Amino acid sequence: MKGKILVTGGTGYIGSHTVVELQNAGYEVVIIDNLSNSDKNVLDGIERITGIRPAFVEADCTDMKALRNLFETHKGINGIINFAASKAVGESVQKPLLYYRNNLNTLVNLLELMPEFGTKGIVFSSSCTVYGEPDENPVTEKAPIKKATSPYGNTKQISEEIITDYVTSGAPIKSVILRYFNPVGAHPSAEIGELPNGVPQNLIPFLTQTAIGIRKELSVFGNDYNTPDGSCIRDFINVVDLAKAHVTAMERMLEDKSDDKVEIFNLGTGVGLSVLQLINAFESATGVKVPHKIVGRRAGDIEKVWANPEKANKVLGWTATTPIEDTMRSAWNWQKRLRERGIM
Ligand code: NAD
Ligand code: WQD
Repeated sequence: MKGKILVTGGTGYIGSHTVVELQNAGYEVVIIDNLSNSDKNVLDGIERITGIRPAFVEADCTDMKALRNLFETHKGINGIINFAASKAVGESVQKPLLYYRNNLNTLVNLLELMPEFGTKGIVFSSSCTVYGEPDENPVTEKAPIKKATSPYGNTKQISEEIITDYVTSGAPIKSVILRYFNPVGAHPSAEIGELPNGVPQNLIPFLTQTAIGIRKELSVFGNDYNTPDGSCIRDFINVVDLAKAHVTAMERMLEDKSDDKVEIFNLGTGVGLSVLQLINAFESATGVKVPHKIVGRRAGDIEKVWANPEKANKVLGWTATTPIEDTMRSAWNWQKRLRERGIM
């Protein structure tokens, strides 16, 4: 066994894919999740893929007593990957304190317990949202951080600062901060994937739900942007590729491959695709048409953002390799699996 990793939010979308990759790489995993945005059945999917059922603690990371209890019960946690957070941008504008409390208290609790229990490193899920509307694309890690446009985005900026301040204070820990671009797709086995609550706000789940007939048509928010086809541009990164970067980042910290105590990496493909190009990619990969119409812009949307992932490519030795067509097929197979299971 390579080491014991605590994965907070490990039954969630990115967390579950990362647990699979950690277990495949030989790590022992303990998950903590309060199931506020995921289902316990995800553990079955992880077990079907890897043959291993990770330890699972149903508890809230803002509950310091429960967290301490977890560290005492599961002795010898070497590293943490902190996915647990509330992530709906619109909801964060309506309920800012929920977001500040959940996302920041979770992080502070984990950081506080790490030295006490000898836990060496923490990987933190940040977001390209910290760049706002970038001055130039592709975006490197050196691009300026723009004032957050939502409490959710602000929690990511503040979290990055909390980690840096704590490490600078001399805390005996290391951290890798990963700024994800737009994670999409599902595990190729279709055993795990994204499970949005209610009407999806994000593009891919809305698209696949439209393709299967749950939604009548997909609204494309704007075709009058300053982009080649007028729709917004994003860097859509396959969720399994993304998950693998966490394993590499964890190894880097635990094996002291870097002298820097905090490192920041963009995780993206380096390729920007427009919303309309993505719909085309889905249709040509699956042969399924997606009814869609152009509507007005969505308030607060970024016009275009895609990553320069060179630092992650060179330093982590990680590259996103899955072609977008494979990613679209995986998203579609997952949507069909949800239908087979009678979930959606
Ligand atoms: P998700 O909602 O699927 O997963 C988060 C998990 O954390 C859920 O299972 C939820 O039940 C759990 N959780 C939330 N608060 C908790 C708490 N206080 N205690 C215990 N468990 C808690 O989200 P995801 O898409 O997998 O995102 C994972 C992380 O990546 C989040 O921090 C998110 O902000 C970040 N991120 C996501 C995206 C994206 O587009 N999905 C992009 C950039 C960054
Ligand atoms: C992508 C594009 C929409 C839905 C959000 C968060 C960001 C990060 C990732 C966590 C946009 C368009 C969407 C639809 C559409 N999360 N769209 N019709 O906005 O890039 O980023 O998730 O950190 O912080 O803000 O992702 O999937 O919502 O939208 O036309 O029904 O698809 O306008 O251009 P976004 P998204």
